[in-house]
Amino acid sequence: MLGCVQVIAGFAAFLFLLFHIHRRRCCRDPLLPDWPLFGMLPPILKNLGQINDYATRVLRRNGGTGNFLGPWFTGMNYLATSDPTNVHHMMSKNFANYIKGPVFREIFEAFGDGIFTADSDSWKHHRALLHSLFKTKSFEKLLEKIVQKKMDKSLVPLLDHVERRGIEVDLQDVFNRLNFDIICSTILGSDPESLAIDFPEVACERAFNEAEEFIFYRHTVPISIWKLQRWLRIGPEKKMAEACEVFDRFLHESIASKREKLNKDNEKDRENDDLLTCLMREKEGKEHVDDKFLRDTAFNLFVAGRDTITSALTWFFWLVAKHPSVEAKILEEIKEEKETKSQVYLHGALCEALRLYPPIPFERKQAVEHDILPSGHEVGPGTMILLSLYAVGRCEEVWGKDCMEFKPERWISKKGSIVHIPSYTFISFNAGPRTCLGKDLSFIQMKIVASSILKDYQVHIVKDHPISPSLSIVLLMRYGLKVWITKRN
Ligand code: HEM
Repeated sequence: MLGCVQVIAGFAAFLFLLFHIHRRRCCRDPLLPDWPLFGMLPPILKNLGQINDYATRVLRRNGGTGNFLGPWFTGMNYLATSDPTNVHHMMSKNFANYIKGPVFREIFEAFGDGIFTADSDSWKHHRALLHSLFKTKSFEKLLEKIVQKKMDKSLVPLLDHVERRGIEVDLQDVFNRLNFDIICSTILGSDPESLAIDFPEVACERAFNEAEEFIFYRHTVPISIWKLQRWLRIGPEKKMAEACEVFDRFLHESIASKREKLNKDNEKDRENDDLLTCLMREKEGKEHVDDKFLRDTAFNLFVAGRDTITSALTWFFWLVAKHPSVEAKILEEIKEEKETKSQVYLHGALCEALRLYPPIPFERKQAVEHDILPSGHEVGPGTMILLSLYAVGRCEEVWGKDCMEFKPERWISKKGSIVHIPSYTFISFNAGPRTCLGKDLSFIQMKIVASSILKDYQVHIVKDHPISPSLSIVLLMRYGLKVWITKRN
């Protein structure tokens, strides 16, 4: 009997060793050791605070592509890449083989059946619908009007107040509130006025922030753990459920009041219609638009358009404050009183901030069928893939030896126009058929905000304020961006 146990134990130890040796063959980078049982999770957790820089370093040392092996038997295994040829292949050439997939939909459950989590026909349907609404001149005009009004009514009075009192303010919080109000106005047609000098606590804004925070948590623990927590309604999962309930209530109330308004005055003021009203009108007579569809679409657009622009503006202002020569050139251009569309240098500076700090620093994909990537790596059916947009923006082979420097000039051609860079190398807005639908709108909004602030105010970063990325799906600053403001003469 004892002998039998010994044989089984010996066989188990042999399998354990074989398994470990097999896994170690996948990656021998001392920066990313593969521990028995825990896999590569310990070094990842150790570097979690600087995860994007760490991933960039590891990917660089491994030619841009490598395996991440999670704890044994948890299924947390990924192929990570920042190789632009792989990105081009997955995003465009073999687009159909790389989907968001069911695991993505589970992690991003709060997004419902909206465009971000959709695949195949459902995605095509969302895409066509939103494309028809976004890519119209009247929607651009509406956004311009809303942003400009918000600057005059809320942001300028707030900056004047901060300047007069000589107080410090968190610029990231200011942008978060500004963008929340703008997105509410464009999508729901009402302004919750979360941006005000007393920084009011607006329940729906807070709930939205929390929901986003907890989505990131699901990326960092094995699926079984967060699912158990969700089932038991404990820990971060409990908080996430509560936050989603508050935000959903807010969305459902807005939808109900919109329906009521639409029934009353169907024909009035179509020019200033918000996005939800346009959606309801678009589908009128063709099919019934249920509340869930409207809720999911609104939620997806809130995520798409709120934190991304906050992130881009926050890193942009930090970079500009650290580079006075860039600030001087932007001011020169603003003084020429060009239309925002023709502000080439400002456009280049925004692109450069987006390259170094892409608001969405990584994306997940899942392979449908077996494939071989241009880098030579094999992908099996169901393989989970992590694309580091952050590392692509810092790829020396693409951007040159000075890739870590903030140089808006690299975006400007000899003729003074913006240099065209293929989207699989400037990947901050995604590439291929799933390219961001809000790219042009984002530039309109960011340029109005940036030029309105820089024209009249100088932003100073508070000395010794720590700058560090947050742990979230959007690349925000963990401690915000503390600044003080002076007026320009
Ligand atoms: C600086 C601002 C922005 C950046 C950097 C950005 C970036 C991105 C990225 C990387 C994706 C792909 C995400 C994925 O598939 O996982 C995406 C998709 C998308 N973005 Fe943006 N975005 C920005 C602003 C906006 C705005 C303001 C809107 C509109 C309100 C918007 C609407 C969308 C939509 C609808 C998609 C889904 C496209 C699809 O799956 O077909 N984005 N964006």
